[in-house]
Amino acid sequence: MKFFIDTGMVEEIKEAAKWGIIDGVTTNPSLIAKTGRSQADVIKEICSIIDGPISAEVIATDTEGMLSEAMEIAKWHDNVVIKLPLTEEGIAACAKLSEQGVKTNVTLCFSPNQALLAAKAGATYISPFIGRLDDAGHDGMALIEEIRTIYDNFGFTTEILAASIRNSTHVRDAAIVGSDVITAPYGVLKALYKHPLTDKGLAAFLADHEKANK
Ligand code: E4P
Repeated sequence: MKFFIDTGMVEEIKEAAKWGIIDGVTTNPSLIAKTGRSQADVIKEICSIIDGPISAEVIATDTEGMLSEAMEIAKWHDNVVIKLPLTEEGIAACAKLSEQGVKTNVTLCFSPNQALLAAKAGATYISPFIGRLDDAGHDGMALIEEIRTIYDNFGFTTEILAASIRNSTHVRDAAIVGSDVITAPYGVLKALYKHPLTDKGLAAFLADHEKANK
């Protein structure tokens, strides 16, 4: 299972990179807006920190506009993945980019049929938004499970990228149901390390070692 960090903040990415377990980065227009910088600047800097897939989202809503933005974004770095919204226009752009060998991440997926469309269009990644579904009273993790079944039924190679992850339970459950990738904010990833029994156990080991070596 791959771990992506979901942020535009380069300081968070630099910290997370030290852990040695981050495979890639996802951003979106809201995350980029929080940085107060241009998308091009942020994405280029991220590409210099993490050697893996870095998703950058298009703003155009028509297929031609998405394709010309994608061509521009793709020039920034070989690791850039073009993030496209799950609309008719986005799926058409995805199909064209897939034909050209450009990596894509189809975002804002909220149903199994939408995920099926993305796979048909040859998407590299599909991003189902777990947290937003949970917030709306639906079961986000059930969607990941359904997509896993559909993709396995037909051997689709599109990777399931569980997104809109809000807590460590989401990470655990996404791993259990077979998501290929999770993308999570810095705080959620950091929380994965924590267990009170680890802290307690380590304190006891260190105290015993100290006593034995006086
Ligand atoms: C994924 O690619 C998105 O950037 C992100 O996970 C959305 O998460 P949110 O629902 O917390 O905004």
